[in-house]
Amino acid sequence: MGHAVPFSRDPVAFLTGARERAGDAFSFTLLGRPTAFLCGRAAHEAVFRADEQVLSPRAAYRFMTPVFGPGVAYDAEPAEMERQIGHLLPALTSRALAAHACVMEEVAEAHVRGWGESGERDLMETMNELTVSISTRCLLGVEVSRRLGPELPGLFRDLESGVRLAGLLSPSVPLPAFRRRDRARAALGRVLGEVISARRAARPADEGPQDMLATLLSARSSTGEALADETVIGLLIGMIFAGQHTSAVLAAWTGVLLLNHPEHIPALLCEQERAMEGHKAVTAALLRRMEHLEHCVREAERLHPPLVLLIRRALRDFDHAGRRIPAGTLVMISPAVSHRLPDVFRDPDRFDPGRYAPGREEHTVPYALIGFGGGKHRCVGLAFAYQQVKIIWSVLLRGFELRLGRPGPCVPDYSTFVPGPRTPCPIRYRRRTPPHGPGSGAGQP
Ligand code: HEM
Repeated sequence: MGHAVPFSRDPVAFLTGARERAGDAFSFTLLGRPTAFLCGRAAHEAVFRADEQVLSPRAAYRFMTPVFGPGVAYDAEPAEMERQIGHLLPALTSRALAAHACVMEEVAEAHVRGWGESGERDLMETMNELTVSISTRCLLGVEVSRRLGPELPGLFRDLESGVRLAGLLSPSVPLPAFRRRDRARAALGRVLGEVISARRAARPADEGPQDMLATLLSARSSTGEALADETVIGLLIGMIFAGQHTSAVLAAWTGVLLLNHPEHIPALLCEQERAMEGHKAVTAALLRRMEHLEHCVREAERLHPPLVLLIRRALRDFDHAGRRIPAGTLVMISPAVSHRLPDVFRDPDRFDPGRYAPGREEHTVPYALIGFGGGKHRCVGLAFAYQQVKIIWSVLLRGFELRLGRPGPCVPDYSTFVPGPRTPCPIRYRRRTPPHGPGSGAGQP
């Protein structure tokens, strides 16, 4: 077992404590595997820039194969994975995202319409519901939203909860969580297969901006062939997997931080009022004006990065900082540990969105803020995720006075690879009466 028990209970506390004793590079044993932990900007650069034949994400993330499917993403050769990711990019350009802004807002508005005048909800569950609706609509398409509707949150939860430490050992050991993961994958794959056949047979009526499914159906290989259905299905499920729960977690931590620091809310409301003045719907250009909100989301990314561990496997010996990491070792870096290094971020435990404002711009230090990775494998969904989280909070701030149902610290739930605030994490809300804004009170329902 090695250090598996303390590591899986709280990997961030385990790694932070070990770093205090052993420094920026140390090794330990995890489920019988030699594991090296590296910390600091130089280590991030070394890992992100390493040749894939030396430090391989593919060999580390093989436990994702049951989610993506054989031959897709990390299960493909690096060059093929790069081609597959390339097929996604037209759906993630700033132009494509601009077209999605109004859909994201519509979906969020529709969701909160049913909330009534006041009440209490769980923050993490709410963010999961919102990001499931938005991701399904923008990535999988309107047909999947209609056909699977209320089943989707459960399916995505089963898919996500099937990724856990035991997967590093073998993703197919007979655990109930892995069986639920496989059932959810099969159900989503079946519906997506039917939707793909229907779309290939007849172009659907124009129902708004192109979703990612449409982008993948029009993609062509270098020899001019359409992508195989299984590849399209694997990439779509992979995108949901990579982007839905991670965005929900980022949105939830943004909420926890904001509602624990209500002194920021008047300025955020003022910014909303100014940005939206004379506009009925949010656009990408209006979102760009919401800088303070963006800084708050970025501070949530720093203090509570949704992916606390980024992993590679050494295929050959790897030298860093005078140490040799032998072939076969799992190599980890941790955004959650590195984002709290005092020599990189001033007063690192403090919620301080101003650190990203002009004049300070702490996030521009290379390889400092790594919540979305870095180098060749940097997240391609960063802009999508930020847009989604900003829209969710723009809708909530404009629509409601909010506060945490239980003030005080919220602790991360390390039972999954993407730890959000541990539930229950209730929020209380009261609908604002227009005109909303700073004069209407900073939010104590
Ligand atoms: C808050 C939300 C998100 C976070 C925190 C996040 C974080 C990350 C990180 C850290 C990596 C690099 C992993 C590594 O180097 O080991 C990554 C890769 C990736 N992400 Fe995201 N992500 C988010 C949302 C999304 C979304 C919305 C999408 C797609 C729509 C997406 C698609 C991808 C893909 C395809 C990769 C692999 C890129 C490659 O290996 O070339 N992510 N993400």
